Amino acid sequence: MAVNRAFFALPDRLGHYAILGKIADGGMGTVVKARNDKNGEIVAIKLMFNDLTDNPVMHKRFEQEFRAASTIDHPNVVRALDYGEWDGSPYLVMEYVDGEPLSSMIEREGPLNETEAIRLIAQVAQGLHRAHRHNLIHRDVKPDNILIAKDKKTGECIAKLTDLGLVKEQAADLDLTRTGRGLGTPHFMAPEQFKNAKNATIKCDIYSLGATLYAMLTKVTPFKVANPLDAWMRKIHNEFAPVRELNPLASERVEWAIRRSMSADPMLRPKGCREFIEDLTGRSTRKSQLQPAPVGEKETWYLSWKDEKEEVHSVMGTLGAVRRSIKEGLLGDAANISDRKIRASRTKEGPFQALRDLPEFRDIALTWIRATRESGADREGQGAVNGTIIKSKSKKRKAPPFSSATRILVIGGVVLLGILVVAGGIWWSANG
Ligand SMILES: Nc1ncnc2c1ncn2[C@@H]1O[C@H](COP(=O)(O)OP(=O)(O)OP(=O)(O)O)[C@@H](O)[C@H]1O
Ligand SMILES: [Mg+2]
Repeated sequence: MAVNRAFFALPDRLGHYAILGKIADGGMGTVVKARNDKNGEIVAIKLMFNDLTDNPVMHKRFEQEFRAASTIDHPNVVRALDYGEWDGSPYLVMEYVDGEPLSSMIEREGPLNETEAIRLIAQVAQGLHRAHRHNLIHRDVKPDNILIAKDKKTGECIAKLTDLGLVKEQAADLDLTRTGRGLGTPHFMAPEQFKNAKNATIKCDIYSLGATLYAMLTKVTPFKVANPLDAWMRKIHNEFAPVRELNPLASERVEWAIRRSMSADPMLRPKGCREFIEDLTGRSTRKSQLQPAPVGEKETWYLSWKDEKEEVHSVMGTLGAVRRSIKEGLLGDAANISDRKIRASRTKEGPFQALRDLPEFRDIALTWIRATRESGADREGQGAVNGTIIKSKSKKRKAPPFSSATRILVIGGVVLLGILVVAGGIWWSANG
């Protein structure tokens, strides 16, 4: 990122760390490579610019947050190792990552291949999930803060989230009318975080994860506009080019998942990192002994619902067939899905979960609910699930709970037809 400050002269040592050389200047300080005298370990040290940290209360906060972050031990999070102070400036000692920031990778190779992009962002999300479980919000997830290293054994790229535990909300309370404060960029930030960074939540980090994936797949920085006010206005109106418009190779699922994570309304975003990964992959992140291994479009699913008499009905169908049935509105009113009436399971015995809560169907289910609401009317069910009946207390094949309006129409039609046939018969016998 652009730097507007730097140390005139760096020291040779910081405490028991011998400085080996400068790596780069960032928004809050200078990053150097160093060696720990005590154990020979190579580390990275961020020496904060002292104009950012000129009061003792801030120093205390830096230390507290940094110590909290140092409890996180995860392969996808850069380890926070030590904290110290030099000439009035705090310095933060971290694991040294032999690699490059994701931003450089995007610059050189972007747009990235979708499978690889999902693999890397899912790693970041796993690291972030661990932080969230420790009640730590990152507040500044962006390509500059994700370092990409090569796994020594496999040669595969591995993503590591850095700058966790940096006290950034002072910097992030952006004055929307000013630009170039040099402290964090508003491009990847959730709109609600602009004005109230102190209350940043998990949902802010989810937004930033989505915006980062957007940049990986399109090579375009979202909301790269002249000033923060303009960026904010566009964010609250969800004004950004769809991923597939910029990268036609991107899949529909990923486009949907990014748009959902970047919803202006935090309530519409995934609940957390796990749900974000599930949205991207269409697979549960929980390993359950009960669930059979996924086999793709042809895998078997069981749907279950209760009718008005509280009788339980079930049908069996393939993943592809159930998805098509939702997409084509064959499962009745959108309310059946939005109210979690129709439930599904990968085994006959359950546990059954609402379609919209299952990653395999969430994209289609939420899109269907939204489309139906936007069109102003719930489309009515037009047929049965494309599957085989496997269980029904009434032992009769039943369609899913279609709306009463449909039923009244059908019954009315049959009665009318009957009357016409009888009347025709009478007329025939009288005149024939
Ligand atoms: N743990 C690390 N190991 C190796 N290099 C690092 C490490 N942390 C940071 N760097 C390098 O130092 C550069 C500057 O990082 P820094 O976090 O100061 O700036 P930034 O991420 O661009 O901006 P911001 O201050 O907004 O986070 C990074 O781009 C990266 O190349
Ligand atoms: Mg950084």
